Amino acid sequence: MKATARAHTNIALIKYWGKRDEKLFLPMNNSLSITLDAFYTTTSVEFCTCLKKDIFLLNGNIMGEAETNKMTRFLDLIRKMSGSTLYGVVDSINTVPTAAGFASSASGFAALAAASTKALKMEINDDILSQIARQGSGSACRSIHGGYVEWEKGEQLDGSDSFGKQILTENEWDLSILSVLVEPNEKKVLSREGMKRTVDTSPFYTGWLETVDDDLTVAKQAIYDRDFETLGNVLERNALKMHATTLGANPPFMYWTSATVAVMQKVQELRDNGISAYYTIDAGPNVKVLCQPEDENSVREKLMTLSVVQEIYHCHPGPGITYLPNTNRKTCC
Ligand code: DP6
Repeated sequence: MKATARAHTNIALIKYWGKRDEKLFLPMNNSLSITLDAFYTTTSVEFCTCLKKDIFLLNGNIMGEAETNKMTRFLDLIRKMSGSTLYGVVDSINTVPTAAGFASSASGFAALAAASTKALKMEINDDILSQIARQGSGSACRSIHGGYVEWEKGEQLDGSDSFGKQILTENEWDLSILSVLVEPNEKKVLSREGMKRTVDTSPFYTGWLETVDDDLTVAKQAIYDRDFETLGNVLERNALKMHATTLGANPPFMYWTSATVAVMQKVQELRDNGISAYYTIDAGPNVKVLCQPEDENSVREKLMTLSVVQEIYHCHPGPGITYLPNTNRKTCC
């Protein structure tokens, strides 16, 4: 009753921003992402009759009540689907630098969904696995697949048509994604809270909804055409629109710091000097810069000249879920 799975995190090119159903994690709009090779979570789950409750180990440390309860709520869903009543030990190793504010919930819930359903020998396809991962954290549903992934929002009330679909594999188009760390501290407004506040109170949210589908259509076609300039322009525009909605919220909030803006301006300057690079930003101050692999070194070099830049992590499109052999590490009886 044990299984081990690895899932890579993803970065949204067209953002998921706003839920139409908070309990089922159903989004207001379709989104589009790249799964990243360098950041991933490896999770082993063992269900056992010897356990009286779930246990959660992260990077070898036993997690406290709040973190464990979150994980238990997710395992409850899987227990309900499979008919099992067993508790489990979740042993997770995260290579996503959590302190750096890069999304680890996507890879975390995708790996947990894959390992726990396999440990219980549930026979499910990737569409169902993605729907399950979605209910841990929305963006996790895209991490089931590698490469370029669209999360279709779906129309059904039960979420049965809301899951990630691969549109291009990681081997079909290589891009460089540079994760630029400017601020290692935890973000003040979590993405879950931020998107809710925006949907509930920001007058700019309707503008977001009116144009996001067009952005997605352009981005998707650019991916099929391997047209980097078109993709870059639309992904940057889409990120700016998402962040603009937060300024209209009540109370208003902003994920950027002056360092974020400095990186954005540097990327614009690179473009003015003929280097094709574009940025996107999620619910935090750090910036992801996309460029073509042949420009990676010069983009990195130019960004490193900024004193606000603490670290740059390099990524390329990476794989979806992989199942690994179980280690001999003993986690229960
Ligand atoms: C800005 O997936 O972290 O990164 O579903 O509430 O867990 P929950 O939110 P989450 O939100 C991600 C928001 C985003 C955009 C994106 O990844 O598409």
